Amino acid sequence: MRRGAVVWLVAVALGASAIALAIAFFIPWLPDSASEESERIAFVFWFTTIICIAIFGVVAAMTLYSVVRFRAREDDDSDGPPIHGHTGLEIAWTAVPAVLVTAIAIVSAVVLARNGDAGPNPLRVDVLAQQFAWRFTYPDNGKVTSGHLRLPVGRSVELHLQARDVIHSFWVPEFSQKQDTVPGLETTLVITPNKVGTFPVICTELCGLGHAAMRTQAIVMPAAAFDRWIEQRTEGGGSARDPGLAVFESAGCSGCHTLAAAKSTGTTGPELNGLQARAQEVGMPLEAFVRQSILEPDARHAPGFEQGGMPDAFGDLPKEQLDALVEFIVKSTGRNSG
Ligand code: CUA
Repeated sequence: MRRGAVVWLVAVALGASAIALAIAFFIPWLPDSASEESERIAFVFWFTTIICIAIFGVVAAMTLYSVVRFRAREDDDSDGPPIHGHTGLEIAWTAVPAVLVTAIAIVSAVVLARNGDAGPNPLRVDVLAQQFAWRFTYPDNGKVTSGHLRLPVGRSVELHLQARDVIHSFWVPEFSQKQDTVPGLETTLVITPNKVGTFPVICTELCGLGHAAMRTQAIVMPAAAFDRWIEQRTEGGGSARDPGLAVFESAGCSGCHTLAAAKSTGTTGPELNGLQARAQEVGMPLEAFVRQSILEPDARHAPGFEQGGMPDAFGDLPKEQLDALVEFIVKSTGRNSG
């Protein structure tokens, strides 16, 4: 090959790679990482992407060179030369991809192994997914429960995920990982948050009517603030807070229902403001009506919600939580703000 051709090929390969690199780097394809696991995943992503960009550059240069150099002239009806293979080239284009793919496999395996390792002292959080809410329990911290996933920054966390009804999937984009929750099976996920902030928790498996609303927040806090929060929750420091409101949030009611006193705005289920009129309509005392609607959601459906869809899973709330929840809804339904 002429020297001019080699220079031409290298220049085009570098140019094509530079364009691809600019597209890869300057468009924010991924959310900012907020955990160590996410940073490792990003490393695998970039490792693979840069290999792909280099190959793209070589292929683009070869293609352009062939199109320009070997284009058939006008009125050229002759056959091409009879070429029969090139052993050296064939060995190269088999060996190089084999080495690259092996390298990607090794890097991925190392990252997978490290991302699955929770270390000696992880914080355990039990995650319960149900239509259409998340509930987080801290079994080693006084069994505190919360509708938000609160995590201390810098500490490795091991989530143990379970589903009550159908398959859901836990996803925080900034943590990069997804993990399905499967009825009858406990799955785990290790997260080591390394940025303080609030991130969305999203259900990423179509699970029914309220799937799109099955969201909450992961709140990563400084370790001291996290300890204070746990303390407040365990030592009755939260007594200023209505226990019924706490159940309303942690059991997931706020994900689907609008209720001014709880500042919730869900629309998957009927609004809970002004239930007195509805109770009168069906001829029941308000409290009995609220209790029945929670325990037997399909006993009667609110106008506009005839298709049903509320999980009948709230009967297994502990009695004092259920009582607090009913009391809270009964006293809040007539109020316009909390
Ligand atoms: Cu749960 Cu989608």
